[in-house]
Amino acid sequence: MKLQIINGPNLNLLGKREKSIYGDTSFEPFFSSLQQQYPQLQLEYFQSNWEGAIIDKIHATGYEFDGIIINAGAYTHTSLAIGDAIAAVTTPVVEVHISNVHAREAFRHHSFLAKNCVGVIAGFGLNSYKLAIESFITEGTK
Ligand code: DQA
Repeated sequence: MKLQIINGPNLNLLGKREKSIYGDTSFEPFFSSLQQQYPQLQLEYFQSNWEGAIIDKIHATGYEFDGIIINAGAYTHTSLAIGDAIAAVTTPVVEVHISNVHAREAFRHHSFLAKNCVGVIAGFGLNSYKLAIESFITEGTK
């Protein structure tokens, strides 16, 4: 099973950024640990601070991979274009967030992505990504 993880803006700063909210681990070692935990999967990781680059990655993987796990960061709450890209592709997409966005400011409660995703996982720290992987393993990619 081929799964693409896509991280959006400011998530390159995990481990340095607002540690009380996002923790003190950067994504790269966490991603390596996921690869070790799931040797049967082909896991790919991409991060960009650019909306268009995120859309291009959805297009590039969204007819080929078995699943996409996306944390679009603040674009979640602003980007109709990323929401449309998810609607356009055939690969199922799971939206994830490190923090519980619903326990935070009201502007974080709305997602332009969620209605085009198979599900949303938020609030479990980096474990949100692992739960998304587990959802693809247990639910398949129907
Ligand atoms: C986030 C939540 C967003 O509201 C925020 O803009 C982020 C990170 C999360 O993972 O909790 O950049 O997506």
